Amino acid sequence: MSCEDRTGSLLATLAASKPGGHMVELGTGVGAGASWLLHGMRPDARLTSVETDPAHQAVAIAHLGHDARAAFVATDADAWLDSYSGPPLALAYVDCRPGKFHRLGDLIGLLEPGGLYVVDDLLPQSTWPSGHQARVDDFLARLPEQSNLLGTTATWASGLLIGTRI
Ligand SMILES: C[S@@+](CC[C@H](N)C(=O)[O-])C[C@H]1O[C@@H](n2cnc3c(N)ncnc32)[C@H](O)[C@@H]1O
Repeated sequence: MSCEDRTGSLLATLAASKPGGHMVELGTGVGAGASWLLHGMRPDARLTSVETDPAHQAVAIAHLGHDARAAFVATDADAWLDSYSGPPLALAYVDCRPGKFHRLGDLIGLLEPGGLYVVDDLLPQSTWPSGHQARVDDFLARLPEQSNLLGTTATWASGLLIGTRI
């Protein structure tokens, strides 16, 4: 379930545009997206990557845990959204349901003005469980209601949304 290389390359590019920025990834998986983000991040930027499955996240920590810019948090993204009290976020890469299919407003509210919001996997995939297409359709239909987000969808890679908090 790791992000594909084109998405990763874009994440690195966007992360490089935020020197000193605090970034979050919701859904660490085994760390592919985090490694792309860290590849682009400047030395003074910070990444928090949140994952509910410790076995998945252990793989990421084994490879990336030495990087002092990264913090790996083993918790549910909903709980993380409830408790986050750090600085406004320069970039959020949301790769699980909280902050994407629900609680979009809460996530966007944590971004700094000009902060970037990235989601992938918006184009149909053969691995999707039944009902997932309706979830994606609903997410895309409700995006215009988010008046503090200027977003663009792209039918590129796995299907992306890149937005800026306004
Ligand atoms: C698509 S994978 C992440 C891939 C990773 N972002 C990458 O680009 O390499 C989604 C991950 O989100 C995790 N996940 C699912 N629901 C979650 C939740 N509510 N909170 C945190 N992590 C969650 C899954 O365990 C899975 O490892």
